[in-house]
Amino acid sequence: MSQQVRAVVARSKGAPVSLETIIVPDPGPGEAVVRIEACGVCHTDLHYREGGISDDFPFLLGHEAAGVVEAVGDGVTDVAPGDFVILNWRAVCGNCRACLRGRPWYCFNTHNAKQKMTLTDGTELSPALGIGAFAEKTLVAAGQCTKVDRRASAAAAGLLGCGVMAGIGAALNTGAVGRGDTVAVIGCGGVGAAAVLGSNLAGAGRIIAVDIDDQKLETARRLGATHSVNSRESDAVEAIRELTGGFGADVVIEAVGRPETYRQAFYARDLAGTVVLVGVPTPEMKLELPLLDVFGRGGALKSSWYGDCLPSRDFPMLIDLHLQGRLPLDAFVTETIQLDEVEKAFERMHQGDVLRSVVVL
Ligand code: APR
Ligand code: ZN
Ligand code: ZN
Repeated sequence: MSQQVRAVVARSKGAPVSLETIIVPDPGPGEAVVRIEACGVCHTDLHYREGGISDDFPFLLGHEAAGVVEAVGDGVTDVAPGDFVILNWRAVCGNCRACLRGRPWYCFNTHNAKQKMTLTDGTELSPALGIGAFAEKTLVAAGQCTKVDRRASAAAAGLLGCGVMAGIGAALNTGAVGRGDTVAVIGCGGVGAAAVLGSNLAGAGRIIAVDIDDQKLETARRLGATHSVNSRESDAVEAIRELTGGFGADVVIEAVGRPETYRQAFYARDLAGTVVLVGVPTPEMKLELPLLDVFGRGGALKSSWYGDCLPSRDFPMLIDLHLQGRLPLDAFVTETIQLDEVEKAFERMHQGDVLRSVVVL
């Protein structure tokens, strides 16, 4: 048995996405079918459409999603039909070297569904990040479903599935921001704004938001930034140093993914401070730094994949904080849209006035 649902598909490189009917198989062993309630539009979806991630067209886009488990296959015990879940792209395997040494957030053998979803002519789809959630329903590995409190709104909860988790985790997990620390966040889009929020949650003493767009700085202030710097108008490194007693920040989070902003992060931190790179560079980008500065300034240069999150640990905890009013996830939902408006949301991304457009089904 299988069922037909509507979904957003990128058929070929650079072409606008289209709304298609797809076939979702019944869940096999270890799999689950999830009825999607909301899915955020992320830059990675656009990168897939532009052919920047792989050539495995057609792609079933969408990966920042929450919904309700409709059916599970044999052997699935962690989730059951009716559970409200956030979908994750780190379904830890439990057997790889990272998992076995107790660091499952580095798991490099994460699970996806084994069966393929297809177009009606049988063409196999490649789901974005193994999820594919711009769809009424999707098929995933059961481990990709993390159960959370049903009282959270799906639009807000789904965002923890990718970008917002990446930002919060860059601060909490990778950067290990502590009480009283000074933090600077360079780039305050969805990911950077979430890093501001994470730093706030961790009790940072000063949170300096840096962006080239005043609107983004405004939002960052609403989410807990104590200071903001427009780096088009003033030098980011000097400004951060000035705001931290001349020292530089304890933790600088780079949420743009460019050599020039990484360089700013590198020089804007205090001696023995930490740089966290959570922005994703492109393959041709190169960075040159005096090796003596790398040595002489000490500290840690870290990268944060998916905020070094462990979905089973972090999603329910963050949703609970959200429901207690301590984590305003709703602030990231700039607009809610329909399934057939994803292409429009891609266009709006370039205008810079959106943290997240979220498809609500
Ligand atoms: N200096 C400071 N800020 C910058 C600069 C710059 N030179 N260039 C761009 N920005 C700002 C933009 O104004 C924007 O607010 O960086 C922000 C980027 O935000 P978004 O485009 O909304 O992207 P986001 O979803 O936050 O992702 C940021 O993290 O996960 C990765 O692939 C993602 O590389 C991307 C990064
Ligand atoms: Zn593993
Ligand atoms: Zn994403």
